[in-house]
Amino acid sequence: MLRDPSIKYRPFPPIVLPDRQWPSRTITKAPRWLSTDLRDGNQALIDPMDAEKKQRFFDLICRVGIKEIEVGFPSAGATEFDFISGLVRENRIPDDVTVQVLTQARRDLIDTTFESLRGAKTGIVHVYNAVSPAWRKIVFGMSRDEVKQIAIDAAMMLRDNAAAQPDTDWRFEYSPETFSTAEIDFSVEVCAAVMDVLRPTADRPIIFNLPATVECATPNVYADQIEYFCRNIPNRDAVIVSLHTHNDRGTGVAAAELGMMAGADRVEGCLLGNGERTGNCDLVTVAMNLYTQGVDPGLDFSDIDEVVKTVEYCTNIPVHPRTPYAGDLVFTAFSGSHQDAIKKGFAAQEAKNDTLWEVPYLPIDPADLGRSYEAVIRVNSQSGKGGVAWVLEQDKGLKLPKRMQADFSRHVQRLADESSRELNAADIWGAFVQAYRLEQPQRFALGAYDETRAPNGDRIFAGSIEVDGVQQSVSGRGNGLISSVVAAIKEGFGIDLDVSDYAEHAIGHGSGAQAAAYVECRTPDGRTIWGVGIDEDVATASVRAILSAASAVE
Ligand code: KIV
Ligand code: ZN
Repeated sequence: MLRDPSIKYRPFPPIVLPDRQWPSRTITKAPRWLSTDLRDGNQALIDPMDAEKKQRFFDLICRVGIKEIEVGFPSAGATEFDFISGLVRENRIPDDVTVQVLTQARRDLIDTTFESLRGAKTGIVHVYNAVSPAWRKIVFGMSRDEVKQIAIDAAMMLRDNAAAQPDTDWRFEYSPETFSTAEIDFSVEVCAAVMDVLRPTADRPIIFNLPATVECATPNVYADQIEYFCRNIPNRDAVIVSLHTHNDRGTGVAAAELGMMAGADRVEGCLLGNGERTGNCDLVTVAMNLYTQGVDPGLDFSDIDEVVKTVEYCTNIPVHPRTPYAGDLVFTAFSGSHQDAIKKGFAAQEAKNDTLWEVPYLPIDPADLGRSYEAVIRVNSQSGKGGVAWVLEQDKGLKLPKRMQADFSRHVQRLADESSRELNAADIWGAFVQAYRLEQPQRFALGAYDETRAPNGDRIFAGSIEVDGVQQSVSGRGNGLISSVVAAIKEGFGIDLDVSDYAEHAIGHGSGAQAAAYVECRTPDGRTIWGVGIDEDVATASVRAILSAASAVE
């Protein structure tokens, strides 16, 4: 890299718009959405989609609720043309969906493009030519007027071809390609010239799609360009201002959002941001960003995993695990402090009376995207007691008392350090079984027992306990079941435990419900031991918990 990059790169010149309004606006409604997955997205693939994949992607786009779909570039070749004309011929376009087709501004290509939609009820023909200085100078060697004339000629061809196929309700889209790097007054001038030919009205507006073909500036500059365009294009009512951002600087979504604030009506992009180079604007992110501000995007991503699966299948490109809203890891916390806060957040969310979402570290409820809570917290060597307790609760329904969480997390930490890998729910359950001596056969196996009351109200525990394969009858007396069991094991096995804490809860509901009991015990030599019992019967669970603690004493 250069010590002085200014000898090679220049800063993008700002737009002069001192009274810009967009910074103090907020987005309060969804834009019109256009998916260009089957065109811009497809053009960027190593292996462009075949007809089967295109149809699958088309169905997905319809399912999520996008009503305008750019289905391809019909003049590019037979695969494209046949897929598009097949959609029309075989009546595969839902009534509420309008397909859009792209063409360069050349007569033969425009003719083929109209031909591909012959018989369609509606269709948007999208024509483009590049307008910025670098393209004019380097690619075409043309003046501003010559470039403008290309757009005017294309508009006349659109008008005439549409008139020759009057059974279709034609709409037009014009893109001054490379808009974001062009002189803004020239972009307006070219679009105005296109309007002079096509004469749009508020009832039959033209779409002016303003691409950041290559993203070259901070997103505020794009917003300035959009606001300038909206203010200066004649007959604004007859224009749908459409955004088409790419992501070269990593701000494609931000540019689209600021562009909406600046007055645009429509957003073009791809699901999960596939597209040339660093991709097109990610429509899932823009839509879900609106959703998290309380604005209905009008799209349905409630099964985001299905979206990811289909996009990966059709594009043959894996979705990054950190992709906003959709990646495998975006609702997962590994770090202990995050896990703790999330766990508290879920508990507070459950306890409060309103539905407003307020869970630390989770900007959205994963359930809204069809994601389960299980994956929210995952355990590795960075995790803490809250995370471990969460996994146990989600997986086994066990709600460990606070101090026991700390005790168990030490066991899990040791395992995570030893194994240097993520621990799954089965690993954590294995560690729990081992830590609290729940493996079968247990050292003390509870047989039949009875609990009776003495005349003074004391409880008497009498039962059989198998120790190392040998049945033994024991009994003990105390002011409750727990103390009577503690007395019985002292009497029968010489094990002296002082119970300092006890907790129990149900696991599940209805006929399959079980009970879990936890005891914290002190031994005469000052050790703290935890015991756990699980049984269909809550009293038996507590007896088992004492036996689990007793089995830690040699
Ligand atoms: O990025 C771009 O400029 C395009 C145009 C064809 C709209 O994809
Ligand atoms: Zn593009």
